[in-house]
Amino acid sequence: MGLSFPLIILIMRFLVSLMMFYLILSVSSSGVQPMCHDDERFALLQFKESYFINQSASRDPTAYPKVSSWKPDQISDCCKWDGVECNKDTGHVIGLDLSSSCLKGFLNSNSSLFRLAHLQNLNLDDNDFNSSPLPTSFRQLSRLTVLSLAASIFSGQIPSEIFKLSKLVSLNLSYNPLLKLQESGLTVIAQNLSNLEVLSLKQVDISSNIPNILANLSSLTSLSLSECDLHDNENLKGCIPEFHRTSPLKLLGLGNTSFNGEIPSSLGNLTNLFFLDLQANSLHGSIPQSISRLENLETLHLNDNYLSGRVELDLFLRLIKLVELQLSRNNITLLTNLSTNSTFPKFRMLLLAHCDLGEFPEFLRNQDQLELLDLGGNKIHGQVPKWMGNVSIETLWGLGLRYNFLTGFDQLPVVLPYVNLKALKLDSNMLQGSLPIPPPSIAFYSGRVPRSLVDCTKLEAINLGNNQIHDIFPSWLGILPELRILILRSNELYGTLGSSDSNFDFSKLHIIDLSNNDLTGKLPFEHFQIWKAMQIVDAVSLKYMEEHQTLVTLAGVSINHIYSYSMTIINKGKKTVYQKIPDFFIAFDLSNNRFEGEIPDVVGNLKGLHLLNLSSNFLTGPIPYTLANLTGLEALDLSKNKLSGAIPLQLTELTFFSYFNVSHNRLKGLIPHGKQFDTFDNSSFNENPKLCGSPLSKKCENPEYSLPPSSSHNSEFSFEFGWKVVEIGYGCGFLFGAVSGQVVITKKYGWFMKTFAIGQSNRTRVNWRGRRN
Ligand SMILES: *[C@@H]1O[C@H](CO)[C@@H](O)[C@H](O)[C@H]1NC(C)=O
Ligand SMILES: *[C@@H]1O[C@H](CO)[C@@H](O)[C@H](O)[C@H]1NC(C)=O
Ligand SMILES: *[C@@H]1O[C@H](CO)[C@@H](O)[C@H](O)[C@H]1NC(C)=O
Ligand SMILES: *[C@@H]1O[C@H](CO)[C@@H](O)[C@H](O)[C@H]1NC(C)=O
Ligand SMILES: *[C@@H]1O[C@H](CO)[C@@H](O)[C@H](O)[C@H]1NC(C)=O
Ligand SMILES: *[C@@H]1O[C@H](CO)[C@@H](O)[C@H](O)[C@H]1NC(C)=O
Ligand SMILES: *[C@@H]1O[C@H](CO)[C@@H](O)[C@H](O)[C@H]1NC(C)=O
Ligand SMILES: *[C@@H]1O[C@H](CO)[C@@H](O)[C@H](O)[C@H]1NC(C)=O
Ligand SMILES: *[C@@H]1O[C@H](CO)[C@@H](O)[C@H](O)[C@H]1NC(C)=O
Ligand SMILES: *[C@@H]1O[C@H](CO)[C@@H](O)[C@H](O)[C@H]1NC(C)=O
Ligand SMILES: *[C@@H]1O[C@H](CO)[C@@H](O)[C@H](O)[C@H]1NC(C)=O
Ligand SMILES: *[C@@H]1O[C@H](CO)[C@@H](O)[C@H](O)[C@H]1NC(C)=O
Repeated sequence: MGLSFPLIILIMRFLVSLMMFYLILSVSSSGVQPMCHDDERFALLQFKESYFINQSASRDPTAYPKVSSWKPDQISDCCKWDGVECNKDTGHVIGLDLSSSCLKGFLNSNSSLFRLAHLQNLNLDDNDFNSSPLPTSFRQLSRLTVLSLAASIFSGQIPSEIFKLSKLVSLNLSYNPLLKLQESGLTVIAQNLSNLEVLSLKQVDISSNIPNILANLSSLTSLSLSECDLHDNENLKGCIPEFHRTSPLKLLGLGNTSFNGEIPSSLGNLTNLFFLDLQANSLHGSIPQSISRLENLETLHLNDNYLSGRVELDLFLRLIKLVELQLSRNNITLLTNLSTNSTFPKFRMLLLAHCDLGEFPEFLRNQDQLELLDLGGNKIHGQVPKWMGNVSIETLWGLGLRYNFLTGFDQLPVVLPYVNLKALKLDSNMLQGSLPIPPPSIAFYSGRVPRSLVDCTKLEAINLGNNQIHDIFPSWLGILPELRILILRSNELYGTLGSSDSNFDFSKLHIIDLSNNDLTGKLPFEHFQIWKAMQIVDAVSLKYMEEHQTLVTLAGVSINHIYSYSMTIINKGKKTVYQKIPDFFIAFDLSNNRFEGEIPDVVGNLKGLHLLNLSSNFLTGPIPYTLANLTGLEALDLSKNKLSGAIPLQLTELTFFSYFNVSHNRLKGLIPHGKQFDTFDNSSFNENPKLCGSPLSKKCENPEYSLPPSSSHNSEFSFEFGWKVVEIGYGCGFLFGAVSGQVVITKKYGWFMKTFAIGQSNRTRVNWRGRRN
């Protein structure tokens, strides 16, 4: 009956062989991709071997070493390696994408990379090539169409060999601030790289006039010559070229350079533009009418130039795709009476500071997607209109109204319903009384600081300085969970700082400025006790106040806006701009009030204090020697009080001290010496009739004065703080004045900015120190 067992085996074997045969046949007939060539695999491996892998060589948080998957064994097909692309027919390596691959090391002219002669597409962005000059061997890669070496730490002149790569369609050398483009560079690019569609030289050091011929790059779709913070392309001069032909240009970034002249009317020929940045140049003249032809425009930055004349808002409202319009700080009068009420662009960012508006533009009524609105410095009188309470309540996170003549809010409780508001600038107005009574739940407050602020639960900074707020201290603001900065200086606050209430615990407050008010009573140390943020923070790692990031996607291009705080501190007539406020920067300014009583010894428990200003009050008693515990103290101003006793010797231990003022008191005895104290001049000490010794001219007679003060009565004062170490802060003669940029905000582009944050912090500290002279 059945087949014998060996026969079955035989048949099975036959079938299997048959299947294998067909398998092989079908694979080869469908043209399986050839294996990569040995010489190219070897070249890639050699390339890999010439670099260290170091995570800190790449700044993109998603970076990883693509080359780790490259294996030297013979059977490994390099066409399948991460980052490698081969031609399907020839097997030659045509693409190499090692962007953000954590490579660290030099790129030499003899690098095996240049043996990949078939390469068309090379991307080495975001690695660390150790300031290598760009090798002339790039000439050998004559098939290149895409070359991207951005943010990879190259230096020196861009060699002319790069400009012989005549097939290039995209060249990106951005964010290499050490790279230089020679005088004739742009001309050569325009002449020789006629296929170029993308040219990005942001932050590259370009010292030349912009040649008109650049407009001849007829296939260019993206041109970026802007700087981006670190490096000013100040030497990139000239006028914006005329664009006498239609052009596919979509992105034109010429911001923060040194262009002058007028905006040519022919710019209106670039009808494909979606991004146009001409900010912070020296452009003058008027905004050409032709700009209304740029119907694809989504982003338009014309701010910080010298543009002048009357500009009808109508001009921009036709640009129906526009989401970002910046016109701040020119010399224009923006007319907001519109010829039509039809459709408007839905703006996300509208920065119209100093545009001579004179009133709230009515068209804002219809805006429901605004994220950032700046109407500062526009001579707007009267009240914030009621309808503003309906504008973009879901989306608005930054509102700037400073430097106007605003007196208040029309129907306040509904005025600030912006659920995502993080930054509000109202300072330098005429805000005063006649604001609505708050709801019953908060009836303990008789109040005039806009009550509706409590609804803005995401607020991180409030600056209501320089108004005429007549009110008690708004301790109810302590309910705002994110509040870090509270500036109420130069108002008419009165009464005591009151007793503490644990519901209002200012849990994140770092900086408070109540100077120049009418506050009375004892120094409010009970308050300090419940302000939780006064706990010590990590002062070693410079943590900046949280940056706000919003990802704005424009026609496929993502722009990561990082907003960060900055502030200006004015002290002794000298102005210091703090680009970012380090998280640990804790400042407390109660100067120029009518506080009385002694400075409690428990002040010495507030270890993290950096700046303390108690000057111009009615404080009595001794200077607590426990201040010597505040090891981070940089500035202490106790001047213009009625303090008595000697200056505690222990204060000489404060090594960070760079400002000290106890003048105009009733201090006596010898001025301590040593360390920082030797750097203070007599202005720190004068007008204390019984104080003696250098730097004052009065000599000491009684040796007893040189003894350190007694330390008797301290422990009984010890405060039972609820946490181990407490930190408070203040600002020395401190004005949260120009929170620079727009609203509270300086705008930055790109993740790479983060990397430079440390550098900024150093500058911050230098400035602070340098401030004294
Ligand atoms: C990585 O680079 C950083 C900065 O250049 C350096 O401090 C560190 O030692 C390097 N790490 C390794 C493992 O080489
Ligand atoms: C490549 O050049 C560098 C310096 O230019 C040299 O140190 C290195 O030995 C060279 N490597 C090879 C393989 O020739
Ligand atoms: C140039 O490279 C940088 C860094 O990789 C990137 O952010 C930028 O988008 C590139 N520019 C263009 C125009 O492709
Ligand atoms: C421009 O390209 C031509 C043709 O490839 C070449 O001869 C010339 O040297 C290039 N010019 C420069 C400045 O590189
Ligand atoms: C650039 O284009 C203009 C106008 O199309 C033309 O007159 C000029 O000769 C061109 N320049 C070069 C160098 O090709
Ligand atoms: C460009 O200029 C504007 C206006 O002066 C300034 O606010 C901004 O910080 C500058 N941008 C960079 C990246 O430096
Ligand atoms: C380019 O703009 C100029 C000035 O606005 C205009 O005279 C010219 O006709 C425009 N050319 C094209 C091709 O649109
Ligand atoms: C501002 O514009 C006016 C005319 O609108 C002009 O007279 C004045 O010179 C301009 N100022 C500056 C600084 O450009
Ligand atoms: C706006 O008002 C000005 C005069 O203030 C006038 O010249 C202009 O034509 C008006 N614009 C519109 C669009 O009505
Ligand atoms: C636009 O609408 C506002 C208020 O609805 C009205 O006051 C104004 O006259 C209208 N303007 C035009 C040009 O229709
Ligand atoms: C403050 O300093 C005094 C004397 O130097 C010391 O006794 C006390 O323990 C210190 N307090 C704290 C909280 O460090
Ligand atoms: C900042 O200052 C510290 C200490 O002075 C120094 O070690 C560090 O290198 C500086 N960082 C930068 C980016 O300059």
